[in-house]
Amino acid sequence: MLLLAIETSCDDTAAAVVRDGRDVLSSVATNQDAFHAKYGGIVPEIASRRHVALLSAAVEDALGRAGLAFADLDGVAVTAGPGLIGSLVVGVAAAKAYAFALHLPLYAVNHLHGHVFAPFLDRERPQFPLLTLLVSGGHSQLVAVESATSMRILGRTRDDAAGEAFDKTARLLGLPYPGGPALDALAQRGNPRAYAFPRHRPAGDSLDLSFSGLKTSVRYFLESENGREARPEDVAASFQAAVVDVLMARLQAAYGRGPYNGVVLSGGVAANSALQSAFRTWAERNRVPAYLPPPKYCTDNAAMIGAAAFHQRRAVRADPLTLCADPNLPFELPARRR
Ligand code: KG4
Ligand code: ZN
Repeated sequence: MLLLAIETSCDDTAAAVVRDGRDVLSSVATNQDAFHAKYGGIVPEIASRRHVALLSAAVEDALGRAGLAFADLDGVAVTAGPGLIGSLVVGVAAAKAYAFALHLPLYAVNHLHGHVFAPFLDRERPQFPLLTLLVSGGHSQLVAVESATSMRILGRTRDDAAGEAFDKTARLLGLPYPGGPALDALAQRGNPRAYAFPRHRPAGDSLDLSFSGLKTSVRYFLESENGREARPEDVAASFQAAVVDVLMARLQAAYGRGPYNGVVLSGGVAANSALQSAFRTWAERNRVPAYLPPPKYCTDNAAMIGAAAFHQRRAVRADPLTLCADPNLPFELPARRR
C-alpha cells in the first residue's frame, strides 16, 4: 500500500511516500526556522503562508524522489490536528484535493499518533504494548500504546513542553532560536552538577510533568550575583540534567506500572544527547527493548504520518469533501472507529 503523506501542523512543510507503513521511499521537509528566528519563536501567520508557498513543490519532490507518479498511489494521509489551525488547513486542503481528484482514499491522522509510529519506519515492527515518551516543542507526554488504535495518555505536562523549556532557557542564555540544539551543544562543555536546579515531582501517583518552575529558577539564578558570574555551559548542563532527570523519573515510574514490551523515545527533544544517553543506559540496565528513531523521524516529518495512517487505516479513513482540520483534535480515537 503506497501512501502519499502530508504534514503541516506547525512550521515544517513535509511530504513523504511510505509503503506498507514501514518503507520510506522518500521523505522531504522544508524547515522554516530562518523565517521565524528573528521573532524568537514561530509566527503562525508566517508559517501558514510558507506552507502555501512550499507544499505543492514538496509533494512533487517526494513523488519524484520515490520514482513514482500520482497514478501509482493507493491513498493520501494527512495530519488533521492538533496544531496551528492556519498551518493544518493548508495541508488538509491539499490532501483533500489530491484524494478527490485522484479518486484515492483519504486518511486523517493525529499528529501525536505520527510521533508514536516513528519507530515503525525503516525497521521491524516493535511489539505492543509499548510505553512512549513523546517530547517535542509543543507536547510532552507519556503514552501507553496498547495497539495501533488504542492509546492512552498516562501523564502530560502541566505547563511548558520539554522543547519549549529548552527553547526558553536557551533564550535566557542568549542562544539563537531554536534553542534546544544550541543548548545541547553548549551543555556538552559544562558541568551538569554545577547547580542543583529543582526537579518537579507530581503529588501522589500522578505521572504528569512540569517545567515552568525549573525555567523560572534558571531565570532567577541568572539574574542573581552568582548567576551573572556563572559559566553559561555549566548553567546549560545543569538545566539539561534537571530536564533529563524529570523525564527519566516519570518514564521509570510509568514502566513500573506495565507490563510493556518496550519503550520508545520520540519527538524533537529525543535528539538531545543527554536524554538519549540516559534513555539507552536505563534500558540496557533494565533489559528493556528500547526504540529511538533517527533524528529525521523524531522531529516533525510526513513519513511518520504515513506510518500511522497505514496502521490505523480503518479507523482514520475520512471523506475528502467534509474533513476539517482540528487544532484541538482529541488524542483518543472514537471507540466505534477502532
Ligand atoms: O518534534 P519537533 O520537531 O516539533 C514539534 O512538534 O514541536 O520538536 C522541536 C523541539 C524544539 O523545541 C527544539 O528546540 C527541540 O525539539 N530540540 C531539542 C534538540 N533538538 C531539537 N531540544 C533539546 N536538545 C536537542 N538536541
Ligand atoms: Zn511534532
